[in-house]
Amino acid sequence: MAELVNFVIFGGTGDLTRRKLVPALAELVNSGVLDSKSTIIGLSRKDMADEEYNKFLMDSVKEGKYREHISQLNVKYLSLDVSAGKLDKLGDLLAHCRGDCKTIFYLATSFLFFNHISRELKRLGLNKSQRGFSRIIFEKPFGRDLQSSKQLSQEIHNSFDEESVYRIDHYLAKETIQNMVTFNFTNPIIHSTMNNRYVEKIEIIADEELGVGERLGYYHESGAIRDMIQSHLLQIVSIILMDKGDIHDEKKKVMDSLELMPMDHQLIGQYSSYGSELKSKSLEYGKTETFAKIVLNCKNKRWDGVPIVIRTGKKVKKKKGQVIISFKSSEKGLPGNKILINMYPKQDIVMSLNARDPFSEKLKEVNFEFSREKEFGPNTVDEYSVLIGEAISGDKTLFARDDEVQASWKIVEKIENNRKDIKFVIYEDGIDPESIK
Ligand code: BG6
Repeated sequence: MAELVNFVIFGGTGDLTRRKLVPALAELVNSGVLDSKSTIIGLSRKDMADEEYNKFLMDSVKEGKYREHISQLNVKYLSLDVSAGKLDKLGDLLAHCRGDCKTIFYLATSFLFFNHISRELKRLGLNKSQRGFSRIIFEKPFGRDLQSSKQLSQEIHNSFDEESVYRIDHYLAKETIQNMVTFNFTNPIIHSTMNNRYVEKIEIIADEELGVGERLGYYHESGAIRDMIQSHLLQIVSIILMDKGDIHDEKKKVMDSLELMPMDHQLIGQYSSYGSELKSKSLEYGKTETFAKIVLNCKNKRWDGVPIVIRTGKKVKKKKGQVIISFKSSEKGLPGNKILINMYPKQDIVMSLNARDPFSEKLKEVNFEFSREKEFGPNTVDEYSVLIGEAISGDKTLFARDDEVQASWKIVEKIENNRKDIKFVIYEDGIDPESIK
């Protein structure tokens, strides 16, 4: 049954709201998860009337039926300083439903405001609901380092129970990543070979064609390690390497076992036009990495000795999201098998195995392919609608638990502590990332 929800967006006029959250809400109405009479409340500093905000929401979706869904929603807007100001106006708006409503607070703001907002929500009695629910979704990054994320966690837990806290990582909702758990644990042919006896190397790639664009201010403080590795890529590593069991416990165990390979294996870089982008925004030059290739080892019985290579870069040749599991060859000189798990542009799983070429009678590597599109049709559902839908139904499987997030910050800390010993290169815009050395 479709849920009647108050969906409150902090950062209500931001880029993420326009590009991801509004289309996701429209999709959820479309799929019958969200009742079309639900209320959307946007908050930001901008001065705007409800009608103007309604127009902003309408302009965020293109397709006719989605525009119709948005037009049915009850839309409100509050011009408030969410970084420090009091949120009484929000309290007034939700006063009629205190204790009764199903409310989701989505914090699409900097983590610097997370604590203030949570505290205000508690002061206004909006952190709990007796007959409905009161859930809070935090956009990543959750903190800036181990210390700040720990502190943030403690502060937030003063207002919201962990059960009501949803830390978003949209990579966890990517279809092929969700499928990894099923693929790995329900196929003995895969599971029995996923260990250091058979696997030679695991690579996790998130290449991007675009540069940092409008997000330069945020990104310059963050860099690829905090922006992409801390959450997205380390979450994927833990999904791929985890054992069967409670997903959060098992991911945490993997993260705790990860160690950095020696510094001469690690590489960071910056695209060549980054400096001039900084200049055009009058920002001071700094060696913020827009590319990182980090090699890890998972020090446990199952994985010790298998290099785990994670790579991400902006302004490289083309956008690609892929996990490559390379197996040891059965005999010297023979190609090893591979499993390719594609996230972007396709969402397929391909196994490269050896077969006999009937013409030459020689051995040939052939692909066995599971095509999402051929099997189930194209995937038209964005990750954000999956995740908001899960938050509405109260399922936290696809969200990161507190201790997982901290464990991943510990890894980032190890990288940061060794930064001066990691090679830094400037790479040409649009380069093939394989050739960044
Ligand atoms: C975001 C990062 O979380 O993920 C961005 O902050 C990045 O810098 C984006 O571009 C990539 O997401 P996707 O789904 O397009 O690979």
